[in-house]
Amino acid sequence: MERKPIISNFRTESSAIPQFHQFSLKGKIKIIKEHVSLNKEDLKLIHQYQKLPDFIDFENNIGPFKIATNFLVNGRDYFVPMEIEEPSVVAAASRAAKLIREGGGFKGKYLGNQMIGQLQLFGIRNFKKAKEKILKNKEEILKIANKTNQFLLKISGGAKDLKVRRVKNFLVLHLFIDPKDAMGANIVNTMLEEISPFIKKISSGHVGARIISNLAEKRIVFVEGKVPIEKLKLGKFSGEKVAEGILNLQRLAELDIYRAVTHNKGVMNGIDAVALATGNDFRAIESAVHSFAFKNGKYKPITSWELTNNFLKGEIKIPLPIATVGGATGTKKAKLALKILGVKNAQELGIVAASVGLANNLAALSVLGTEGIQKGHMKLHKEFLKTIKNGKG
Ligand code: MEV
Repeated sequence: MERKPIISNFRTESSAIPQFHQFSLKGKIKIIKEHVSLNKEDLKLIHQYQKLPDFIDFENNIGPFKIATNFLVNGRDYFVPMEIEEPSVVAAASRAAKLIREGGGFKGKYLGNQMIGQLQLFGIRNFKKAKEKILKNKEEILKIANKTNQFLLKISGGAKDLKVRRVKNFLVLHLFIDPKDAMGANIVNTMLEEISPFIKKISSGHVGARIISNLAEKRIVFVEGKVPIEKLKLGKFSGEKVAEGILNLQRLAELDIYRAVTHNKGVMNGIDAVALATGNDFRAIESAVHSFAFKNGKYKPITSWELTNNFLKGEIKIPLPIATVGGATGTKKAKLALKILGVKNAQELGIVAASVGLANNLAALSVLGTEGIQKGHMKLHKEFLKTIKNGKG
């Protein structure tokens, strides 16, 4: 069904657009245009994507990416570009964001903004002495790192600290760098290469690899959101029943890696889609999140749900090395996605992306614990396949 946008029906500053997916393609663009002032070039780019042979005019797809609605994060409204082949993921994120809106929206923050670089040393004769030497020269090492390529240094916050670990026959130096709004791989790897001759000299060892660690445990984002229990009602299932199903699934994920990994995959459906739309390295994010989930020797769910008074409250705490500058974030498509999001920096983007992950998790658990995944998800998927087959794209 195609509908014309009824502009008086909603506040354009809000991303809570009822039945956004049912608007015509033109209607959807008009809504976004009224929320974010898209210029001629932006609209041209969107139309160019709509002309590609594989463009499917289905659900929330506008061309370069799909758009999730209803996101209220730290008091701000967002239309969220998501690049993902499955339309049901975007529909699910939008549905759950609407529920969390009922509880005041998502609230999030970063708990740190450092990436870790590893410098591997081998052939060390006296580990204790080499470690002491490196630590004694810490200020000098940081000074050398921070003399690196001035451009990279300007866009980063610089090297902040270091530590030394012994890993069997290796000594491994960890350099902690604030990459500001960049993902950080380039600046981290450059700094490691800059400090390596000095490290080699003072440690009397041989330098091996100098590379970023994707376990970005010092760049953690935390987001929470809650839903009034009665709003969770789904078809014939009461809000209480839906909440019970969610808590049961949470418990299973805490106990069982087979469930935890699928639980986390559902979260990453949303986060990866935002990462892809904004030109980010989603593999780096995936490896950060899954290694973090296993950090304490047992693979754990990255979100948690609990009852508090009359609310179901959810949290997500993950490393999220996401960027608004550098790499493919400078492509036309990614720039358009960032413009639609209107984020000021990488941390704001990370908080929105983590909110999307939490939303996708809520959407998945709410149906899995009640009516099952096939009813909504597969129905939409079948319609999608039919649209492709009929060549309606
Ligand atoms: C499918 O892409 C994602 C789910 O399997 C997530 C989950 O089981 O929690 C539905």
